Amino acid sequence: MQEKSKRTGIFAGDDPFQIARDWLTEAESAEPNDPNAIALSTVDAYGVPNARMVLLKDIEDGAFVFYTNYGSAKASEIDDSGMAAFVMHWKSLRRQIRVRGVVERESGTKADAYYASRSLPSRLGAWASKQSQPLGSRGELLAEVAKITASKGLHPNRPPFWGGYRIIPTEIEFWADGQHRLHDRFRWSRSGPDSEWSIDRLQP
Ligand SMILES: Cc1cc2nc3c(=O)[nH]c(=O)nc-3n(C[C@H](O)[C@H](O)[C@H](O)COP(=O)(O)O)c2cc1C
Repeated sequence: MQEKSKRTGIFAGDDPFQIARDWLTEAESAEPNDPNAIALSTVDAYGVPNARMVLLKDIEDGAFVFYTNYGSAKASEIDDSGMAAFVMHWKSLRRQIRVRGVVERESGTKADAYYASRSLPSRLGAWASKQSQPLGSRGELLAEVAKITASKGLHPNRPPFWGGYRIIPTEIEFWADGQHRLHDRFRWSRSGPDSEWSIDRLQP
């Protein structure tokens, strides 16, 4: 790790994933709703950016994981570009974390386990929704849910078109509000997932 600036307090530590976990744990006590919400950013085939909220479901030792429908707009944009970025912002803590990186699918046992942990209506809803496709009416969707419920029963398997993505960062920035807008920022960057981190303190 190449360190160009001393880090103390909430920025201290040698593992950016642990720092992110610690900040999220603090946010879980401070935020009224969805402390794990991230604004996920992708680009479409024309290079036009796209953003939407998703829920961050795990911070592994090396990656950030969320779940979605593989037929959705975000999924095709990620599958085409192989990259994504996200920001999470906690108003209560006045902090943000920004992440940019390469993305791979998580469609194995971990995705199965997360799917199985969801409520039955959520599991059936994942089967029923062709996420991001046009829908005639809410009634049509509810009819699809009823059909799926009748055919899949109480123990539906994870749909093949639904699973996770693992964002493996090449850049993580930790930002905390400072007095008079003199904020603290530390950017961890590396050239690839197996390279060493370099850390810079950035101007506010
Ligand atoms: C707080 C919040 C959390 C959300 N979490 C998820 C999620 O974890 N996965 C997901 O597919 N969509 C989630 N959504 C819905 C997405 O924002 C979005 O509407 C949907 O995924 C379709 O996006 P796309 O058309 O860009 O693929 C969430 C929305 C909000 C507001």
